[in-house]
Amino acid sequence: MTASQDTFWITRNPVGRARDALRSRRQGDDAPRPPGPRGRPFVGVLPELKADPFAYLRHLGGVYGDVFRLPLPLYDVVIVNNPEHVRHIMKHRNGEYSLVGPVSWAKYVLGASMQLLEGADFRQRRKLLSPMMGRGQLAKVATPIADEFANRLAKWARFADTGEPIDLQHEINGVVIPAFMRAMFTKQPSDDVLERLDIDIRTLMASASSPLFLGPPPRLLPGDGNPVQAWLRMRRWVMQQIEERLTESTSYDDLLQALLDARYEDGTPISRRDAITEAIMLIGGGYETVVAALAWTLAFLPQNPEAQQRLYDEIDALEAATPSYDDLDRLQWAKACFDEGQRLQGLLLQPRFAMIDDTIAGYRIRRGNLIGIPIYNLQRDPRWWGPDADRYEPMRFYDKEIAAARPNLAYLPFGAGPHRCFGAAMGYLEAQFLLAQIFQRFRIQLPPGWTPQHDSAVVWPVKGGVPAVLTKVPARAK
Ligand code: HEM
Repeated sequence: MTASQDTFWITRNPVGRARDALRSRRQGDDAPRPPGPRGRPFVGVLPELKADPFAYLRHLGGVYGDVFRLPLPLYDVVIVNNPEHVRHIMKHRNGEYSLVGPVSWAKYVLGASMQLLEGADFRQRRKLLSPMMGRGQLAKVATPIADEFANRLAKWARFADTGEPIDLQHEINGVVIPAFMRAMFTKQPSDDVLERLDIDIRTLMASASSPLFLGPPPRLLPGDGNPVQAWLRMRRWVMQQIEERLTESTSYDDLLQALLDARYEDGTPISRRDAITEAIMLIGGGYETVVAALAWTLAFLPQNPEAQQRLYDEIDALEAATPSYDDLDRLQWAKACFDEGQRLQGLLLQPRFAMIDDTIAGYRIRRGNLIGIPIYNLQRDPRWWGPDADRYEPMRFYDKEIAAARPNLAYLPFGAGPHRCFGAAMGYLEAQFLLAQIFQRFRIQLPPGWTPQHDSAVVWPVKGGVPAVLTKVPARAK
Protein backbone atom coordinates (compact mmCIF):
# COMPACT_ATOMS: atom_id res chain seq x y z
CA MET A 1 0.00 0.00 0.00
CA THR A 2 1.22 3.52 -0.68
CA ALA A 3 0.26 6.86 0.73
CA SER A 4 -2.40 8.27 -1.54
CA GLN A 5 -4.31 11.49 -1.64
CA ASP A 6 -4.99 13.33 1.58
CA THR A 7 -8.20 12.12 3.07
CA PHE A 8 -9.20 13.15 6.51
CA TRP A 9 -11.39 10.56 8.08
CA ILE A 10 -13.64 12.32 10.56
CA THR A 11 -14.96 9.67 12.89
CA ARG A 12 -17.58 11.83 14.48
CA ASN A 13 -18.95 12.80 11.13
CA PRO A 14 -21.75 10.44 9.99
CA VAL A 15 -20.47 10.51 6.40
CA GLY A 16 -17.03 9.46 7.57
CA ARG A 17 -18.49 6.70 9.71
CA ALA A 18 -20.63 5.42 6.87
CA ARG A 19 -17.65 5.42 4.52
CA ASP A 20 -15.60 3.57 7.09
CA ALA A 21 -18.31 0.95 7.55
CA LEU A 22 -18.65 0.51 3.78
CA ARG A 23 -14.94 0.20 3.26
CA SER A 24 -14.65 -2.38 6.05
CA ARG A 25 -17.39 -4.46 4.46
CA ARG A 26 -15.85 -4.24 0.99
CA GLN A 27 -12.38 -5.14 2.19
CA GLY A 28 -13.61 -7.86 4.54
CA ASP A 29 -11.70 -6.05 7.24
CA ASP A 30 -12.55 -7.69 10.52
CA ALA A 31 -9.81 -6.13 12.67
CA PRO A 32 -11.52 -4.41 15.59
CA ARG A 33 -11.39 -0.68 16.22
CA PRO A 34 -9.02 0.18 19.07
CA PRO A 35 -10.84 0.27 22.40
CA GLY A 36 -11.37 3.54 24.23
CA PRO A 37 -13.80 5.63 26.22
CA ARG A 38 -17.09 6.49 24.50
CA GLY A 39 -16.84 10.18 25.25
CA ARG A 40 -19.74 12.61 25.29
CA PRO A 41 -21.66 13.82 22.24
CA PHE A 42 -19.79 16.53 20.31
CA VAL A 43 -16.97 17.06 22.81
CA GLY A 44 -15.75 13.48 23.26
CA VAL A 45 -13.35 13.32 26.21
CA LEU A 46 -12.04 16.86 25.72
CA PRO A 47 -13.14 18.08 29.20
CA GLU A 48 -11.28 15.20 30.91
CA LEU A 49 -8.24 15.67 28.68
CA LYS A 50 -8.13 19.40 29.30
CA ALA A 51 -8.44 19.00 33.07
CA ASP A 52 -5.17 17.03 33.37
CA PRO A 53 -3.94 15.76 29.99
CA PHE A 54 -0.93 13.82 31.26
CA ALA A 55 -2.71 12.04 34.13
CA TYR A 56 -5.72 11.31 31.92
CA LEU A 57 -3.66 9.66 29.17
CA ARG A 58 -1.80 7.62 31.79
CA HIS A 59 -5.11 6.54 33.26
CA LEU A 60 -6.50 5.51 29.86
CA GLY A 61 -3.32 3.54 29.13
CA GLY A 62 -3.90 1.64 32.39
CA VAL A 63 -7.50 0.87 31.42
CA TYR A 64 -7.24 0.19 27.67
CA GLY A 65 -3.64 -0.93 27.11
CA ASP A 66 -1.08 0.15 24.53
CA VAL A 67 -3.40 1.11 21.65
CA PHE A 68 -6.58 3.02 22.37
CA ARG A 69 -8.91 5.66 20.98
CA LEU A 70 -9.23 9.16 22.34
CA PRO A 71 -12.50 10.70 21.10
CA LEU A 72 -12.08 14.44 20.46
CA PRO A 73 -14.74 16.85 19.14
CA LEU A 74 -14.23 16.16 15.42
CA TYR A 75 -12.28 12.93 15.34
CA ASP A 76 -10.70 10.18 17.38
CA VAL A 77 -6.97 10.17 17.99
CA VAL A 78 -5.47 6.68 18.12
CA ILE A 79 -2.94 6.58 20.95
CA VAL A 80 -0.02 4.22 20.49
CA ASN A 81 1.79 3.70 23.76
CA ASN A 82 4.45 1.06 23.21
CA PRO A 83 7.94 1.48 21.68
CA GLU A 84 7.40 -1.54 19.40
CA HIS A 85 4.26 -0.02 17.88
CA VAL A 86 6.00 3.35 17.61
CA ARG A 87 8.76 1.58 15.67
CA HIS A 88 6.15 0.16 13.29
CA ILE A 89 4.90 3.70 12.58
CA MET A 90 8.29 5.36 12.31
CA LYS A 91 9.87 2.75 10.05
CA HIS A 92 7.70 3.91 7.14
CA ARG A 93 9.72 6.13 4.86
CA ASN A 94 7.27 7.37 2.22
CA GLY A 95 4.79 9.40 4.19
CA GLU A 96 2.57 6.43 5.05
CA TYR A 97 2.48 7.95 8.53
CA SER A 98 2.80 11.57 7.63
CA LEU A 99 3.73 14.56 9.76
CA VAL A 100 1.78 17.00 7.60
CA GLY A 101 -1.07 14.66 6.61
CA PRO A 102 -4.21 16.35 5.33
CA VAL A 103 -2.58 19.75 4.91
CA SER A 104 0.15 18.65 2.51
CA TRP A 105 -1.24 21.32 0.14
CA ALA A 106 0.26 23.87 2.57
CA LYS A 107 3.58 23.65 0.73
CA TYR A 108 1.98 25.24 -2.32
CA VAL A 109 0.71 28.15 -0.24
CA LEU A 110 3.55 28.66 2.22
CA GLY A 111 6.53 27.31 0.32
CA ALA A 112 7.97 23.88 1.05
CA SER A 113 9.97 23.11 4.16
CA MET A 114 11.02 19.71 5.51
CA GLN A 115 7.96 19.47 7.76
CA LEU A 116 5.65 19.91 4.77
CA LEU A 117 7.31 17.34 2.52
CA GLU A 118 7.19 13.55 2.43
CA GLY A 119 8.75 10.72 0.43
CA ALA A 120 11.41 11.37 -2.22
CA ASP A 121 11.00 15.18 -2.12
CA PHE A 122 11.47 15.11 1.63
CA ARG A 123 14.57 12.92 1.46
CA GLN A 124 16.13 15.10 -1.19
CA ARG A 125 15.53 18.25 0.89
CA ARG A 126 16.76 16.71 4.12
CA LYS A 127 19.93 15.49 2.42
CA LEU A 128 20.47 18.93 0.92
CA LEU A 129 20.21 20.65 4.30
CA SER A 130 21.90 18.05 6.50
CA PRO A 131 25.34 19.80 6.34
CA MET A 132 23.72 22.65 8.33
CA MET A 133 23.74 20.38 11.36
CA GLY A 134 27.01 18.57 10.55
CA ARG A 135 30.15 18.87 12.68
CA GLY A 136 31.74 21.45 10.39
CA GLN A 137 28.84 23.89 10.50
CA LEU A 138 28.11 23.38 14.21
CA ALA A 139 31.77 24.04 15.03
CA LYS A 140 31.36 27.36 13.18
CA VAL A 141 28.29 28.48 15.12
CA ALA A 142 29.54 27.16 18.50
CA THR A 143 31.71 30.20 19.22
CA PRO A 144 29.06 32.89 18.55
CA ILE A 145 26.55 30.87 20.59
CA ALA A 146 28.91 30.56 23.58
CA ASP A 147 29.88 34.25 23.31
CA GLU A 148 26.27 35.38 23.23
CA PHE A 149 25.47 33.14 26.21
CA ALA A 150 28.38 34.73 28.08
CA ASN A 151 27.20 38.29 27.24
CA ARG A 152 23.66 37.60 28.34
CA LEU A 153 24.60 35.63 31.46
CA ALA A 154 26.79 38.53 32.61
CA LYS A 155 23.53 40.46 33.07
CA TRP A 156 22.27 37.83 35.54
CA ALA A 157 24.82 39.13 38.05
CA ARG A 158 22.25 41.73 39.08
CA PHE A 159 19.93 38.97 40.37
CA ALA A 160 22.62 37.13 42.31
CA ASP A 161 23.01 37.33 46.08
CA THR A 162 19.82 39.38 46.47
CA GLY A 163 17.83 36.47 47.92
CA GLU A 164 14.99 37.46 45.55
CA PRO A 165 13.58 34.67 43.35
CA ILE A 166 13.65 35.15 39.58
CA ASP A 167 11.86 33.15 36.88
CA LEU A 168 14.73 31.14 35.46
CA GLN A 169 12.70 29.98 32.46
CA HIS A 170 12.00 33.57 31.42
CA GLU A 171 15.64 34.53 31.88
CA ILE A 172 16.83 31.51 29.87
CA ASN A 173 14.55 32.66 27.05
CA GLY A 174 16.40 35.98 27.06
CA VAL A 175 19.71 34.12 26.68
CA VAL A 176 18.80 31.43 24.17
CA ILE A 177 16.84 33.49 21.62
CA PRO A 178 19.60 36.01 20.89
CA ALA A 179 22.22 33.24 20.71
CA PHE A 180 20.05 31.24 18.32
CA MET A 181 19.47 34.29 16.14
CA ARG A 182 23.21 34.95 16.02
CA ALA A 183 23.86 31.39 14.93
CA MET A 184 21.17 31.78 12.30
CA PHE A 185 21.74 35.31 10.96
CA THR A 186 25.00 36.59 12.56
CA LYS A 187 23.52 40.09 12.77
CA GLN A 188 21.60 40.47 15.98
CA PRO A 189 18.09 41.93 15.56
CA SER A 190 17.19 44.70 18.02
CA ASP A 191 15.43 43.62 21.21
CA ASP A 192 12.16 45.08 19.84
CA VAL A 193 12.41 42.97 16.69
CA LEU A 194 13.29 39.90 18.78
CA GLU A 195 10.24 40.45 20.93
CA ARG A 196 8.01 40.74 17.86
CA LEU A 197 9.51 37.59 16.31
CA ASP A 198 9.05 35.74 19.59
CA ILE A 199 5.33 36.57 19.70
CA ASP A 200 4.85 35.63 16.06
CA ILE A 201 6.69 32.32 16.33
CA ARG A 202 4.66 31.35 19.38
CA THR A 203 1.48 32.21 17.48
CA LEU A 204 2.50 30.01 14.56
CA MET A 205 3.54 27.10 16.76
CA ALA A 206 0.27 27.33 18.72
CA SER A 207 -1.84 27.29 15.56
CA ALA A 208 0.08 24.24 14.32
CA SER A 209 -0.96 22.33 17.44
CA SER A 210 -4.62 23.40 17.44
CA PRO A 211 -5.87 19.98 16.13
CA LEU A 212 -5.66 18.74 19.73
CA PHE A 213 -8.08 21.45 20.90
CA LEU A 214 -6.10 22.02 24.09
CA GLY A 215 -5.26 25.68 23.62
CA PRO A 216 -7.50 28.58 22.60
CA PRO A 217 -8.49 28.47 18.91
CA PRO A 218 -6.32 30.59 16.58
CA ARG A 219 -7.40 34.24 16.56
CA LEU A 220 -9.23 35.23 13.40
CA LEU A 221 -9.41 38.96 14.07
CA PRO A 222 -6.37 41.11 13.33
CA GLY A 223 -3.88 41.52 16.19
CA ASP A 224 -1.42 39.49 18.25
CA GLY A 225 -2.28 35.81 18.01
CA ASN A 226 -3.53 35.96 14.42
CA PRO A 227 -1.50 33.26 12.59
CA VAL A 228 -1.90 34.74 9.11
CA GLN A 229 -0.55 38.12 10.18
CA ALA A 230 2.20 36.41 12.21
CA TRP A 231 3.23 34.38 9.15
CA LEU A 232 3.25 37.39 6.84
CA ARG A 233 5.33 39.46 9.28
CA MET A 234 7.82 36.62 9.81
CA ARG A 235 8.01 36.06 6.09
CA ARG A 236 8.69 39.73 5.39
CA TRP A 237 11.44 39.85 7.98
CA VAL A 238 13.16 36.66 6.85
CA MET A 239 12.88 37.69 3.17
CA GLN A 240 14.59 40.96 4.03
CA GLN A 241 17.46 39.08 5.72
CA ILE A 242 17.85 36.84 2.68
CA GLU A 243 17.77 39.70 0.20
CA GLU A 244 20.35 41.66 2.17
CA ARG A 245 22.56 38.61 2.37
CA LEU A 246 22.38 37.99 -1.36
CA THR A 247 23.57 41.53 -2.09
CA GLU A 248 26.59 41.20 0.24
CA SER A 249 29.95 40.02 -1.01
CA THR A 250 30.97 38.64 2.41
CA SER A 251 30.33 34.99 3.20
CA TYR A 252 29.18 34.31 6.75
CA ASP A 253 29.59 31.24 8.97
CA ASP A 254 25.92 31.18 10.00
CA LEU A 255 23.00 28.86 9.24
CA LEU A 256 21.43 31.26 6.76
CA GLN A 257 24.57 31.15 4.65
CA ALA A 258 24.57 27.34 4.81
CA LEU A 259 20.93 27.35 3.67
CA LEU A 260 21.61 29.69 0.76
CA ASP A 261 24.81 27.94 -0.28
CA ALA A 262 23.24 24.45 -0.31
CA ARG A 263 23.10 22.89 -3.78
CA TYR A 264 21.15 19.90 -5.09
CA GLU A 265 23.07 17.27 -7.03
CA ASP A 266 22.30 19.10 -10.29
CA GLY A 267 23.88 22.25 -8.86
CA THR A 268 20.65 24.22 -8.31
CA PRO A 269 20.00 26.05 -5.03
CA ILE A 270 16.82 25.87 -2.99
CA SER A 271 14.19 28.29 -4.35
CA ARG A 272 13.89 31.68 -2.62
CA ARG A 273 10.37 30.90 -1.49
CA ASP A 274 11.36 27.56 0.04
CA ALA A 275 14.44 29.12 1.67
CA ILE A 276 12.19 31.61 3.46
CA THR A 277 9.88 28.85 4.69
CA GLU A 278 12.78 26.65 5.80
CA ALA A 279 14.31 29.57 7.71
CA ILE A 280 11.00 30.30 9.48
CA MET A 281 10.58 26.64 10.39
CA LEU A 282 14.15 26.48 11.69
CA ILE A 283 13.50 29.47 13.92
CA GLY A 284 10.22 27.87 15.02
CA GLY A 285 11.88 24.55 15.83
CA GLY A 286 14.99 26.10 17.21
CA TYR A 287 14.72 28.04 20.40
CA GLU A 288 11.49 27.62 22.35
CA THR A 289 12.12 23.87 22.47
CA VAL A 290 15.59 24.43 23.90
CA VAL A 291 14.31 26.95 26.46
CA ALA A 292 11.53 24.65 27.71
CA ALA A 293 13.79 21.58 27.92
CA LEU A 294 16.47 23.54 29.80
CA ALA A 295 13.85 24.95 32.16
CA TRP A 296 12.72 21.39 32.99
CA THR A 297 16.32 20.33 33.53
CA LEU A 298 16.91 23.22 35.91
CA ALA A 299 13.63 22.50 37.66
CA PHE A 300 15.00 19.10 38.75
CA LEU A 301 18.77 19.36 38.88
CA PRO A 302 19.12 21.72 41.89
CA GLN A 303 16.91 19.35 43.91
CA ASN A 304 19.41 16.53 43.34
CA PRO A 305 22.62 17.48 45.14
CA GLU A 306 24.65 14.47 43.97
CA ALA A 307 23.82 14.92 40.29
CA GLN A 308 24.49 18.62 40.62
CA GLN A 309 27.85 18.14 42.37
CA ARG A 310 28.94 15.83 39.60
CA LEU A 311 28.07 18.54 37.10
CA TYR A 312 30.09 21.14 39.03
CA ASP A 313 33.05 18.73 38.95
CA GLU A 314 32.72 18.19 35.21
CA ILE A 315 32.50 21.93 34.60
CA ASP A 316 35.49 22.62 36.88
CA ALA A 317 37.60 20.68 34.40
CA LEU A 318 36.98 23.52 31.90
CA GLU A 319 38.83 25.81 34.32
CA ALA A 320 36.37 28.68 33.89
CA ALA A 321 37.05 28.91 30.14
CA THR A 322 34.13 29.52 27.78
CA PRO A 323 33.28 26.08 26.36
CA SER A 324 34.19 25.37 22.75
CA TYR A 325 32.85 22.84 20.29
CA ASP A 326 35.64 20.42 21.24
CA ASP A 327 34.54 20.56 24.89
CA LEU A 328 31.20 18.92 24.08
CA ASP A 329 32.76 15.46 24.48
CA ARG A 330 33.92 16.47 27.96
CA LEU A 331 30.45 17.62 28.98
CA GLN A 332 28.79 14.20 28.91
CA TRP A 333 27.28 14.49 32.40
CA ALA A 334 25.75 17.83 31.38
CA LYS A 335 24.25 16.03 28.37
CA ALA A 336 22.86 13.28 30.60
CA CYS A 337 21.38 15.88 32.99
CA PHE A 338 19.67 17.51 30.01
CA ASP A 339 18.41 14.19 28.62
CA GLU A 340 16.95 13.31 31.99
CA GLY A 341 15.28 16.74 32.25
CA GLN A 342 13.74 16.21 28.81
CA ARG A 343 12.62 12.72 29.78
CA LEU A 344 10.60 14.03 32.71
CA GLN A 345 9.33 17.00 30.67
CA GLY A 346 7.73 14.81 28.00
CA LEU A 347 5.45 16.24 25.32
CA LEU A 348 1.82 15.16 25.48
CA LEU A 349 1.45 13.72 21.98
CA GLN A 350 3.63 13.52 18.89
CA PRO A 351 1.24 13.48 15.94
CA ARG A 352 1.29 11.42 12.74
CA PHE A 353 -1.48 11.07 10.16
CA ALA A 354 -2.12 7.57 8.84
CA MET A 355 -2.20 7.82 5.05
CA ILE A 356 -2.74 4.06 4.65
CA ASP A 357 -5.11 1.47 6.05
CA ASP A 358 -3.11 -0.63 8.46
CA THR A 359 -3.30 -2.69 11.64
CA ILE A 360 -1.33 -2.04 14.80
CA ALA A 361 -1.34 -4.64 17.59
CA GLY A 362 -4.30 -6.28 15.82
CA TYR A 363 -6.37 -3.08 15.78
CA ARG A 364 -7.42 -1.41 12.58
CA ILE A 365 -5.98 1.93 11.57
CA ARG A 366 -7.84 3.82 8.86
CA ARG A 367 -6.32 6.15 6.31
CA GLY A 368 -6.80 9.64 7.74
CA ASN A 369 -6.65 8.59 11.40
CA LEU A 370 -4.68 10.95 13.58
CA ILE A 371 -2.17 8.90 15.55
CA GLY A 372 -0.82 10.30 18.82
CA ILE A 373 2.38 9.02 20.37
CA PRO A 374 2.20 9.86 24.09
CA ILE A 375 5.79 10.83 24.73
CA TYR A 376 5.25 11.71 28.39
CA ASN A 377 3.70 8.28 29.05
CA LEU A 378 6.46 6.44 27.22
CA GLN A 379 9.16 8.39 29.01
CA ARG A 380 7.75 7.66 32.45
CA ASP A 381 6.56 4.11 31.91
CA PRO A 382 7.92 1.79 34.67
CA ARG A 383 8.15 -1.00 32.08
CA TRP A 384 11.08 0.78 30.46
CA TRP A 385 12.26 3.11 33.22
CA GLY A 386 11.82 0.97 36.34
CA PRO A 387 9.74 1.49 39.48
CA ASP A 388 11.37 4.89 40.16
CA ALA A 389 10.45 6.20 36.69
CA ASP A 390 9.32 9.58 38.09
CA ARG A 391 12.67 10.21 39.80
CA TYR A 392 15.35 12.46 38.24
CA GLU A 393 18.44 10.30 37.64
CA PRO A 394 20.86 11.33 34.84
CA MET A 395 22.74 8.02 35.24
CA ARG A 396 19.98 6.47 33.10
CA PHE A 397 21.62 8.23 30.15
CA TYR A 398 25.23 8.47 31.29
CA ASP A 399 25.63 4.73 31.83
CA LYS A 400 25.64 3.18 28.37
CA GLU A 401 24.67 -0.28 29.66
CA ILE A 402 21.60 1.06 31.43
CA ALA A 403 20.67 2.99 28.29
CA ALA A 404 21.15 -0.06 26.03
CA ALA A 405 18.89 -2.22 28.23
CA ARG A 406 15.70 -0.28 27.35
CA PRO A 407 13.93 0.07 24.00
CA ASN A 408 15.29 2.99 21.96
CA LEU A 409 11.89 4.43 21.25
CA ALA A 410 10.94 4.71 24.92
CA TYR A 411 12.76 8.07 24.71
CA LEU A 412 11.47 10.46 22.07
CA PRO A 413 12.09 14.12 22.95
CA PHE A 414 13.24 14.71 19.37
CA GLY A 415 10.58 12.52 17.78
CA ALA A 416 11.63 9.62 15.54
CA GLY A 417 11.60 8.30 11.99
CA PRO A 418 12.33 10.34 8.86
CA HIS A 419 11.11 13.57 10.51
CA ARG A 420 13.19 13.19 13.67
CA CYS A 421 14.28 16.63 14.85
CA PHE A 422 16.61 18.17 12.32
CA GLY A 423 18.30 20.35 14.95
CA ALA A 424 18.87 17.83 17.77
CA ALA A 425 22.68 18.17 17.61
CA MET A 426 22.39 21.94 17.90
CA GLY A 427 19.87 21.54 20.74
CA TYR A 428 22.42 19.44 22.66
CA LEU A 429 25.20 21.91 21.90
CA GLU A 430 23.16 24.80 23.29
CA ALA A 431 22.06 22.81 26.35
CA GLN A 432 25.56 21.55 27.23
CA PHE A 433 27.06 25.02 26.77
CA LEU A 434 24.37 26.82 28.71
CA LEU A 435 24.43 24.40 31.65
CA ALA A 436 28.21 24.73 31.81
CA GLN A 437 28.14 28.51 31.49
CA ILE A 438 25.38 29.00 34.05
CA PHE A 439 27.07 26.82 36.67
CA GLN A 440 30.47 28.37 36.00
CA ARG A 441 28.93 31.59 37.32
CA PHE A 442 26.01 30.79 39.61
CA ARG A 443 24.47 28.37 42.07
CA ILE A 444 20.70 27.86 41.90
CA GLN A 445 18.31 27.30 44.76
CA LEU A 446 14.65 26.35 44.32
CA PRO A 447 11.93 26.65 46.97
CA PRO A 448 11.94 23.47 49.12
CA GLY A 449 9.32 20.97 47.97
CA TRP A 450 8.55 22.86 44.73
CA THR A 451 7.74 20.61 41.76
CA PRO A 452 7.36 21.70 38.13
CA GLN A 453 4.04 21.37 36.32
CA HIS A 454 3.32 21.48 32.59
CA ASP A 455 2.10 24.59 30.83
CA SER A 456 -0.14 23.58 27.95
CA ALA A 457 1.77 25.79 25.45
CA VAL A 458 3.07 23.96 22.38
CA VAL A 459 6.41 22.76 23.74
CA TRP A 460 5.11 22.19 27.29
CA PRO A 461 7.30 24.61 29.24
CA VAL A 462 7.17 24.83 33.05
CA LYS A 463 3.89 26.36 34.17
CA GLY A 464 4.46 29.67 35.92
CA GLY A 465 8.22 29.43 35.30
CA VAL A 466 11.06 28.16 37.50
CA PRO A 467 11.38 30.21 40.71
CA ALA A 468 15.08 30.34 41.55
CA VAL A 469 17.38 32.24 43.85
CA LEU A 470 20.88 32.78 42.42
CA THR A 471 24.17 33.12 44.22
CA LYS A 472 27.49 33.90 42.57
CA VAL A 473 30.08 31.17 42.42
CA PRO A 474 33.08 32.14 44.58
CA ALA A 475 35.99 33.10 42.34
CA ARG A 476 38.19 30.09 43.29
CA ALA A 477 35.59 27.60 42.07
CA LYS A 478 35.46 29.19 38.59
C1 HEM B 1 15.90 20.59 22.92
C2 HEM B 1 15.75 21.04 21.71
C3 HEM B 1 14.79 20.51 20.70
C4 HEM B 1 13.72 19.65 20.85
C5 HEM B 1 13.21 19.02 22.13
C6 HEM B 1 13.14 19.47 19.54
C7 HEM B 1 12.07 18.65 19.27
C8 HEM B 1 11.60 18.37 18.00
C9 HEM B 1 10.54 17.44 17.71
C10 HEM B 1 9.77 16.64 18.75
C11 HEM B 1 10.37 17.43 16.37
C12 HEM B 1 9.34 16.60 15.61
C13 HEM B 1 9.96 15.27 15.27
C14 HEM B 1 8.99 14.25 14.78
O1 HEM B 1 7.89 14.60 14.36
O2 HEM B 1 9.33 13.04 14.81
C15 HEM B 1 11.31 18.36 15.81
C16 HEM B 1 11.43 18.62 14.46
C17 HEM B 1 12.23 19.61 13.96
N1 HEM B 1 13.14 20.38 14.66
FE1 HEM B 1 13.57 20.21 16.62
N2 HEM B 1 13.84 20.22 18.64
C18 HEM B 1 14.86 20.86 19.30
C19 HEM B 1 15.80 21.69 18.75
C20 HEM B 1 15.81 22.11 17.44
C21 HEM B 1 16.73 23.07 16.88
C22 HEM B 1 17.85 23.76 17.66
C23 HEM B 1 16.39 23.23 15.58
C24 HEM B 1 16.99 24.12 14.50
C25 HEM B 1 18.16 24.60 14.50
C26 HEM B 1 15.27 22.35 15.30
C27 HEM B 1 14.66 22.21 14.08
C28 HEM B 1 13.71 21.26 13.79
C29 HEM B 1 13.17 21.07 12.46
C30 HEM B 1 13.53 21.86 11.21
C31 HEM B 1 12.25 20.02 12.57
C32 HEM B 1 11.41 19.42 11.45
C33 HEM B 1 12.13 18.21 10.88
C34 HEM B 1 11.35 17.51 9.79
O3 HEM B 1 10.14 17.69 9.69
O4 HEM B 1 11.97 16.76 9.03
N3 HEM B 1 14.95 21.69 16.46
N4 HEM B 1 12.06 18.91 16.82
